Amino acid sequence: MPATVVVGTQWGDEGKGKFTDLLASGMSTVVRYQGGHNAGHTLVVEGEKFALQLVPSGVLYDHITPVIGNGVVVDPFVLLDEVEMLQSRGIDCSKLKVSGNAHLILPYHQRLDELYERSLGSQKLGTTKRGIGPAYADKALRVGIRVQDLLDESIFLKKLEAVLEQTNKVLTKAYDAEPIDGEKLAKSVLARLADLKPYISDTVDLVHTELESGGEVLLEGAQATFLDLDHGTYPFVTSSSPIAGGACTGAGVGPRYINRVLGIAKAYVTRVGSGPFPTELSGDIAETMIERGQEFGTNTGRKRRVGWFDAVMLRHAVRLNSLSELAITKLDILDEFETVKICTGYEVNGSKTEKLPYHQSEIHAAQPIYTEFQGWKTDLTEIRSADDLPVEAKTFLSAIEDLVGVRVSLASTGPGRKQYVDFS
Ligand code: GDP
Ligand code: IMO
Ligand code: MG
Repeated sequence: MPATVVVGTQWGDEGKGKFTDLLASGMSTVVRYQGGHNAGHTLVVEGEKFALQLVPSGVLYDHITPVIGNGVVVDPFVLLDEVEMLQSRGIDCSKLKVSGNAHLILPYHQRLDELYERSLGSQKLGTTKRGIGPAYADKALRVGIRVQDLLDESIFLKKLEAVLEQTNKVLTKAYDAEPIDGEKLAKSVLARLADLKPYISDTVDLVHTELESGGEVLLEGAQATFLDLDHGTYPFVTSSSPIAGGACTGAGVGPRYINRVLGIAKAYVTRVGSGPFPTELSGDIAETMIERGQEFGTNTGRKRRVGWFDAVMLRHAVRLNSLSELAITKLDILDEFETVKICTGYEVNGSKTEKLPYHQSEIHAAQPIYTEFQGWKTDLTEIRSADDLPVEAKTFLSAIEDLVGVRVSLASTGPGRKQYVDFS
């Protein structure tokens, strides 16, 4: 049976959690394939708000097996706290599985993340300081510690000792910072081992057994296309591969299984952290978007940067992810605007282009060319059917379809599980 990928098409926080939760109702398994607790996915079910960082957004259904794939970096303390939080709110996490091949984020990764950022000064990336970059760096350096290493205490201790020998030199000699006490750290991790053990498993076998027996699998991306390590606005990116192709490596599924790639895009654009943003706005329109959209980080509380919808970037995201369809979220946030804009091209150093320049300096210099549309000036939050959408909102969505060449199959009109329009 086929697999579906849900992928962010902008710079994150598009509402992937909401649509993963929605699609999960018809699936058997949801696999997070990359990232770590830098993600913040907010789900609103019957007025109750759930903020998830690591556990896949399918967890709210009893019939779903939520899987943390091998491509994820896992802070064991954060994971167990999240499971505890969910269980205290009546959500059963007993089916949760964590790949033994996933790498651990340990406190030295967070310390390094902070120190790297501090040393960059005004050039800082604006990371979430969750230790994501250093954990993936250790993985690539082949000094990372995997979840499965916890199952053999002597291996775990040996690997921790080896990595700390190097890391403590970096901390003390390069940054004049305190070293990590390896023994104390090992003790604190091993103290939680009994809680963690039941979740550790061979998730590749699990996912394939599920696919082979007719189950439908949802591959849930965190972050987004333009935060991708290879294809994003490097270096202002995360350290994993959120694009749809990353789902194959991060879950251990070959591309032939994937037959649906749903791209999630906000009806405008937001970005947290540093880096280029061609349609970025300031002033009254920006403040209205931030206030109406509650554009503050789910975990970090940082105010998000905002701008008009960028069809140039989305066309590129369509290519990078082989999107089969689009879900446009937060359409209701634009309800009060007299007019709304879509960026259809850029002017770069005096030349016009409809393609995303491959040279980053040109993205920094890009001036958006807009088409302006009549606003709908209608409250969309109660609308559930395409027939009831105001004509101006339909025109806005059709323009997106025409500009990016992919069908808009869903549009979201509020944070709640039922607040959406299905065009299929
Ligand atoms: P994710 O990281 O992509 O899962 O997105 P976040 O959860 O970080 O940010 C999306 C926010 O928008 C969350 O607070 C959602 O509850 C909310 N949201 C999602 N879709 C809609 C929508 O259509 N309208 C409104 N008003 N809020 C939405
Ligand atoms: P979700 O899944 C928005 C951004 C950070 C920073 C850059 C690198 O909720 O969409 P990192 O800590 O990953 O090394 O930071 O990436 N970033 C996100 N921005 N949504 C996210 O996740 C993000 N995860 C990381 O702000 O600019
Ligand atoms: Mg988020």
